[in-house]
Amino acid sequence: MDLSTNYMGFKLKSPIIAGSSGMTNSIAEIVKLAKNGVGAIVLKSIFEEQILLEANSLRPEYLTHTEANDYINQYTRHHSLDDYLKLIETAQKEVDVPVIASINCATSVEWVSFAKTIEDAGADALELNIFILPADRRQKGEHIEKIYFDIIREVKERVSIPIAVKMSPYFSGLANMIFNLSIRGIKALVLFNRFYSPDVDLKKLDVHPTNVFSSPKENGLPLRWIGMMAGEARCDLAAATGIHDGETVIKNILVGAHAVQVASVLYKKGPEYIRTMINDIENWMANNKVDTLEGIIGKLSQKNIDNPVVYERSQFMKYYSDYKETL
Ligand SMILES: Cc1cc2nc3c(=O)[nH]c(=O)nc-3n(C[C@H](O)[C@H](O)[C@H](O)COP(=O)(O)O)c2cc1C
Repeated sequence: MDLSTNYMGFKLKSPIIAGSSGMTNSIAEIVKLAKNGVGAIVLKSIFEEQILLEANSLRPEYLTHTEANDYINQYTRHHSLDDYLKLIETAQKEVDVPVIASINCATSVEWVSFAKTIEDAGADALELNIFILPADRRQKGEHIEKIYFDIIREVKERVSIPIAVKMSPYFSGLANMIFNLSIRGIKALVLFNRFYSPDVDLKKLDVHPTNVFSSPKENGLPLRWIGMMAGEARCDLAAATGIHDGETVIKNILVGAHAVQVASVLYKKGPEYIRTMINDIENWMANNKVDTLEGIIGKLSQKNIDNPVVYERSQFMKYYSDYKETL
């Protein structure tokens, strides 16, 4: 059974990538993840604020709230750039799967030079987690799109390792944006970034973050957009969010993903659970007489199915209007 897949120019032995999280900040966990069969590892992100703070060029506009200021200062004291470079070097020595460094960013200012330092430390690839919540009413959509393009251009000028972009779903012209990102020389797009939601505590009457971990239901969003953009995007697509079992891995591959990223399920079930997911994929392949996973990428993408409207608007008309059909 061949579970290998090509992603970002690497031949991965399995399509399950350990997504960036606190777990991939620990060499012990990284080693366990590799032993249990992940195809690649995305290290915990370094934040552009950390890079700027160490270089003394964090501008006041970053620090809109005192609490944010305190948090960034404290975080940076405990997570130095040197530590991050050591993490890359050690991970590279300890595991035989691609090690993808990650930068969480929202601007294309001075921090971009650090991408080269990451390359020099030995990262096989770099994932840019461009994390912009379009919450400023004065900021037009095209301005946010330009930030993405500027970041990619600036980083690409400085490194030669392959680059992936983990993007947000919050674009009014999402298909257009996915396509436009895919033609900018990046090797992969990760659909999508996940933003934690706020919730209201009715007893304390305050607002707090909730759902740090995803639920399997959340996979519908990346599944839809990968299904619609497979064959349109000019780079590899990876699915992220809500992938908690082997069956969901197969679903995302069938609609067009070259690989998937997982984080929440690793926290809930441990790195050993990768083994179970791989077994489930192999069982499905055996039962369905599929020898190679690569052979089924995109088989059920919008382009390749008989009823492509299933991905689109008319389905809402169908299921929202007929009460019995909805049940
Ligand atoms: C505790 C935790 C920490 C995370 N840290 C990062 C991070 O540093 N950088 C990043 O790009 N994504 C980070 N993520 C997001 C995951 O990589 C992933 O995109 C998201 O959790 C959705 O995947 P999942 O449904 O498998 O959890 C984090 C997720 C969790 C749960």
